[in-house]
Amino acid sequence: MGIYFVKKTEARGKKQEARSQKQESLASCLLPLASCFLLLASCLLPPVAAWAEDTCISCHRESAEERVKVSISEWEKSIHKIEKVKCHDCHGGDPESKEGSGAHKVNFIGKPARADIPKFCGRCHIRPLNDYRKSKHERLLSVKKEDGGATCIDCHGYHRIKTKKDTESLTYYLNVPQTCSRCHSDPARMKPFDMPTNQFELYEKGTHGAILYGKVQEVSRTSAPNCAVCHGHHDSMISTHQDIPRICGKCHLSTFDNFKEGLHFDALKKSGEPSCAYCHGNHKVIRPKGEVFAGFKKGECGECHEKSSEEFKVGLNIQGSIERLESLRREAKNSIEDVKKYGRNTADLEQLYTELNANILMIAPASHSLDLDGINKYVDKISTISEDIKRKVDEFKMEIRHRYVVYVISMIIILTAVIILFTQLLIYKKSEA
Ligand code: HEC
Ligand code: HEC
Ligand code: HEC
Ligand code: HEC
Ligand code: HEC
Ligand code: HEC
Ligand code: HEC
Ligand code: HEC
Ligand code: HEC
Repeated sequence: MGIYFVKKTEARGKKQEARSQKQESLASCLLPLASCFLLLASCLLPPVAAWAEDTCISCHRESAEERVKVSISEWEKSIHKIEKVKCHDCHGGDPESKEGSGAHKVNFIGKPARADIPKFCGRCHIRPLNDYRKSKHERLLSVKKEDGGATCIDCHGYHRIKTKKDTESLTYYLNVPQTCSRCHSDPARMKPFDMPTNQFELYEKGTHGAILYGKVQEVSRTSAPNCAVCHGHHDSMISTHQDIPRICGKCHLSTFDNFKEGLHFDALKKSGEPSCAYCHGNHKVIRPKGEVFAGFKKGECGECHEKSSEEFKVGLNIQGSIERLESLRREAKNSIEDVKKYGRNTADLEQLYTELNANILMIAPASHSLDLDGINKYVDKISTISEDIKRKVDEFKMEIRHRYVVYVISMIIILTAVIILFTQLLIYKKSEA
């Protein structure tokens, strides 16, 4: 009853704190009038409840045992301290009793057993607990009675828990791969589960990892998925391979939309392959090279399609388009650089080039539909733009040539005039002499 009362008053105090903060920001906007209002309001509101140090904190702070004492300094850095979640809110006991024997008696939970931790935290975090109950980590703990799987405190810590927005937090977006790897890259820990330990190593080598670790300058680090974006943080998002396109599709929207149009999506629904990860790999995700279309290894077109088949030819066709377009792009770029040297304003050409690029970027997503007509629409557009650029560049070159001819002719005229004048002068001088 006493504990309940203390909590109630704290909650009320917190609300009031928030309320008076809101009023303060309002006051700064509507100055003098509102400041009188604020004065009135703060007179009417009762004072905010004071922060009282209970006996759990005071006795543990003074303990000679490092193990007992350390919990205070850790907890003091946590979100729970800020939110006034105290020792007894997690561990139970009576925070008013001055004797350890008394304080540790009433409803005391003490240090929870490992298998009880989800329930221990889930008293207040109901949704994370419910999601966690659907995960493989939980099943390991509850069904197989194994300690190896992750519980709340393996991913969050326990006394020094911080919000995911804090850069020091184990669950801060950029720290998650390291947090998962404490187990998943540790061979000793994963040995009983017969699971590879190379996920982090591969992830780091792929484009997603390169972006997350800041090696790709022009892209924001958090635009790449961390482990939890693909796998879920509490639940398991990948239960079957049919789940994979939806997960990748959260970011690769247009690729996903195109993929859904094609027969590979139907095949995936029926037989479980090819998912995005079948062709791209799970962790070391990089842009496939052109050879994929002509190859016969796992994830390459020839693995499933005979060399003489229509499907294989479609692949070669796509590869041909990609290579041709790449050379059109290079050509356009070079010729724009070229005319720039002659001092032409290239704003119109640059705009066409941007358009060309945007259409080239659509080819890879569109290729996932396996629909050649759809892809060729982009190819046609790109060819038109490329011809536009070429025509404008040619026109300019022609103009330069004209100017050159006019220049040369006028030089010849001037020169002849000078020579004539000069000879006239000589004749004149001779006749004078
Ligand atoms: C008078 C001092 C004193 C007070 C008051 C006190 N503790 Fe302790 N507590 C200790 C000492 C000493 C230990 C280590 C020895 C032990 O396990 O009893 C300890 C151990 C613990 C442990 C670890 C138990 C384990 O199984 O390892 C927890 C949890 C704990 N206290 C929580 C609390 C909470 C919550 C309160 C307030 C409701 C509280 N304590 C009040 C002295 C105190
Ligand atoms: C958010 C919940 C939470 C709060 C708040 C909390 N603890 Fe704990 N505490 C835990 C958990 C969980 C463990 C068990 C860790 C483990 O299994 O390794 C633990 C373990 C302990 C232990 C055993 C030693 C150790 O570090 O493993 C002591 C002592 C302890 N807590 C004291 C306290 C005291 C004192 C406070 C208040 C300052 C406090 N705890 C606040 C969750 C909490
Ligand atoms: C496998 C690691 C892992 C486990 C186990 C885990 N969490 Fe989390 N948790 C995370 C990550 C990562 C985030 C941050 C997700 C994000 O960025 O949105 C998170 C977020 C949270 C949040 C913030 C709200 C939210 O959902 O974003 C709470 C509260 C939380 N976890 C509590 C718990 C509790 C309670 C348990 C145990 C029942 C638990 N977690 C188990 C990794 C884990
Ligand atoms: C007595 C209730 C209570 C217990 C028990 C409790 N928490 Fe919390 N926790 C809170 C409150 C209140 C907040 C702040 C509000 C919020 O963010 O949900 C919080 C915040 C958090 C956050 C920060 C969420 C974010 O913003 O990223 C995490 C993570 C978290 N708790 C994990 C745990 C874990 C792990 C345990 C068990 C060791 C635990 N909590 C036990 C009440 C509790
Ligand atoms: C405390 C160690 C530990 C931590 C931390 C941990 N895991 Fe695990 N994880 C395991 C173990 C052990 C298994 C094996 C479960 C099994 O085989 O039933 C597992 C299983 C998995 C699986 C399932 C593999 C499958 O068969 O489908 C995925 C996915 C996974 N973890 C992802 C993560 C992610 C993501 C994180 C970080 C947010 C994480 N884990 C953090 C220990 C951990
Ligand atoms: C782009 C999405 C994505 C990211 C990011 C990602 N994974 Fe995976 N992961 C997958 C897919 C897809 C699978 C295959 C699932 C299957 O076959 O059921 C997988 C499989 C796994 C497995 C099962 C064993 C294995 O190697 O096949 C574990 C464990 C795992 N991932 C952990 C991690 C960890 C740890 C990280 C972060 C370092 C991570 N994953 C990042 C998509 C991802
Ligand atoms: C959180 C967002 C996100 C998720 C989820 C995601 N990706 Fe990515 N991915 C990116 C970003 C950002 C890039 C780099 C920019 C780009 O090429 O779009 C990228 C790049 C790629 C690339 C090109 C690599 C290169 O070197 O050019 C491939 C292939 C790829 N992702 C496949 C996948 C697959 C397969 C999945 C699912 C298993 C997936 N992605 C999930 C954000 C994501
Ligand atoms: C894991 C096996 C697998 C791989 C790898 C694979 N395919 Fe397929 N593909 C299929 C299946 C299954 C179908 C469904 C129709 C069928 O049975 O031929 C299909 C259908 C197609 C179709 C017919 C589409 C239509 O609308 O008629 C084309 C084109 C195609 N694939 C091209 C490719 C290309 C290009 C690659 C390489 C980038 C590739 N496939 C890689 C299994 C695969
Ligand atoms: C049959 C194999 C196959 C499947 C299935 C597949 N892809 Fe691809 N993907 C490729 C090939 C081949 C390329 C290279 C095409 C190119 O360079 O234009 C590619 C390119 C990409 C790129 C790079 C695009 C760029 O602009 O750099 C991304 C991103 C991508 N795929 C994501 C996905 C996603 C998401 C899925 C699932 C919805 C998926 N892929 C399914 C074979 C596949």
